Amino acid sequence: MSTTASLKIEDKEYPLPIMIGTEGEKAVDTRALRAASGYIAYDQGYGNTGSCESQITYLDGDNGILRHRGYPIDQLAHYSEFVEIAYLVIYGELPNATQRRDFGLLLRRNAAVEMQMQKILEGFPTSASPMAMLAAMVAALPAYYPELASNNFEKDLKSFDLAAAIAISKIRTIVAMIYRYQKGLPFVFPKYDLPFCDNFLHMMYTIPYQEYQPVPEVTKALNLLLLLHADHEQNCSTSTVRMVGSSQANLFTSISAGISALSGPLHGGANVAVMQMLQSIHDEGDDGSRFIAAAKSGSKTNRLMGFGHAVYRNFDPRAKIIGDACDTVLTRLGIDDPLLKIAKNLEQAALKDDYFVSRRLYPNVDFYSGIIMRAIGIPMNMFTTMFAIGRAPGYIANWKEVASNPKGRIYRPRQIYVGPVKRDYVPMSQRP
Ligand code: ACO
Repeated sequence: MSTTASLKIEDKEYPLPIMIGTEGEKAVDTRALRAASGYIAYDQGYGNTGSCESQITYLDGDNGILRHRGYPIDQLAHYSEFVEIAYLVIYGELPNATQRRDFGLLLRRNAAVEMQMQKILEGFPTSASPMAMLAAMVAALPAYYPELASNNFEKDLKSFDLAAAIAISKIRTIVAMIYRYQKGLPFVFPKYDLPFCDNFLHMMYTIPYQEYQPVPEVTKALNLLLLLHADHEQNCSTSTVRMVGSSQANLFTSISAGISALSGPLHGGANVAVMQMLQSIHDEGDDGSRFIAAAKSGSKTNRLMGFGHAVYRNFDPRAKIIGDACDTVLTRLGIDDPLLKIAKNLEQAALKDDYFVSRRLYPNVDFYSGIIMRAIGIPMNMFTTMFAIGRAPGYIANWKEVASNPKGRIYRPRQIYVGPVKRDYVPMSQRP
């Protein structure tokens, strides 16, 4: 196979190196094109641009494949749990027993949030967006750990293990604190002897004189939800983390930027939109058929939320796993959720309908994740913060790749300027 492509512009040929990934992904390397020809590669929204080489996650949207460090997501979901997958995503290998124990200890030791940081949280109005609060609290972490966040790759990498554990563990604690704050409940301290997910549920749901008692089905569902979000290649928020990190910004600052990017409804906020859609179908007494008919109009405002994906064109492997888990979790918890019935009706109808089939629109992970979160008591306005807890390992692993790359450079895309051409300054008195 040829190792060089050729691009002909104005009768001149430009050889461009071809790159092949370990799974056979192909790219044309255009880095030298501008210097040689004066042309840049234009790709609005970077939909067909590889911004980096990465060893973390392999995603094949046409065939519904998602693998972290080579391991298929269905195997990880079946055999593993969130903390182990966080280790795998960040460090590249499944931990042995000692590594797993040490990683767990580091997370436990760094679960509590400083008293002064609690005061920052209490400065927010209780009506504030949980994602805005989370991003701000994570952005404040460098102030409390300046020795881990010096904005110098060499120094920050020396303390990386501790910074990574602080980020994962405290993001989880901060989310629980936001929940308590908005409910007007006192904060609950993390317990040293509880595993990661049970500790979160303890901090969320312990009420005065009644400590939260772990429910295995709930712990399992939360583990699944978090691990299915652990990383997803170069999506909007992860690319943001890499972009901010490429300026040598520290890990916490870069993650905070990622959390801000995640807050938008086209990204992490989609699971909220799904629940709002299911609720409104329910409130209108529709079984889903009227909504399906409206969704086929092509209008962006009537879309079947939780269907379609920017990258998956066959099926989202995470949706299959979470869809199956929904049934199990709700049955085990004895919950009969009418929204799950509507979701199933919608899915069955859409999968038989030529409109959706011909456009290769299938359920994505958000189609069912909201139902699981609702079943374990997470309020809808907190859904995206749960996504952020799950995605933290992916942000951390991607930041580490940027910081460890000796050949890395600051992210600096170009543009095609389409504004006014040069003109002279007009004094105020002569302006129309
Ligand atoms: N419902 C109805 N029609 C749809 C939907 C949908 N959910 N998604 C796409 N279409 C239609 C479009 O109208 C278009 O039809 P046309 O060819 O007749 O014009 C065709 O399918 C292709 O649509 P595009 O917008 O080109 O698809 P794109 O890949 O750009 O969009 C997206 C992907 C944004 C995810 C889209 O499918 C969507 O809006 N889905 C609903 C929102 C959602 O669930 N987002 C979560 C994504 S997962 C995540 O972020 C974790």
